[in-house]
Amino acid sequence: MGKVFKILGFAGSLRKNSYNKSLLSAALELLPEGVALEIFDLEGIPPFNQDFENQPVEKVKEFKAKIRAVDAILIATPEYNYSIPGVLKNAIDSASRPYGDNAFANKPVAIMGASPGMIGTARAQYHLRQCFVFLNCFVMNQPEVMVSSAHERIDKDGKVTDQKTRELIRKLLENFVEWSGRVTPST
Ligand SMILES: Cc1cc2nc3c(=O)[nH]c(=O)nc-3n(C[C@H](O)[C@H](O)[C@H](O)COP(=O)(O)O)c2cc1C
Repeated sequence: MGKVFKILGFAGSLRKNSYNKSLLSAALELLPEGVALEIFDLEGIPPFNQDFENQPVEKVKEFKAKIRAVDAILIATPEYNYSIPGVLKNAIDSASRPYGDNAFANKPVAIMGASPGMIGTARAQYHLRQCFVFLNCFVMNQPEVMVSSAHERIDKDGKVTDQKTRELIRKLLENFVEWSGRVTPST
């Protein structure tokens, strides 16, 4: 048996019935062979305060350890006011500090997002990409998974029912493994 390719996934939403959590659940159902996806809930990460960055709480320690333990990161982000939710930015800031101890360094990252609106989180996704420049991550370009009219593609039980969306997520996962192998050949 070959090495398992490990992904850590998290959603930039704390909402119980989050559409973005649903995208991660769909990803769990659509994993290629030899790929494992663990989903991490950002609930409990406190507002970042640089005064305490050298004494992170257990939840932040756990988050950083899980990031470091995987080959790649998968983020499902909502769009809030044309950008990324504070909860997601706060989690990224927390895991990137203190200076010199950035857990994201050199990680391949893939992004997807869902919104009931027409733009499918495009603006938030491009802002999210910008954060990962300073963190020295590799963010995959394609396919772009920008799920518009999420309420029509995800049912009341949180299942992604739209076949085109499922196919896109499947394609993203497939590309992610192959592409990660090229940008970080040690994985
Ligand atoms: C503070 C706030 C700002 C929002 N701004 C946007 C926005 O800029 N673009 C958009 O498409 N939807 C926006 N929405 C609607 C979200 O897309 C919607 O609430 C979505 O369900 C959030 O993702 P989730 O289901 O994963 O929690 C906003 C929602 C909130 C609460």
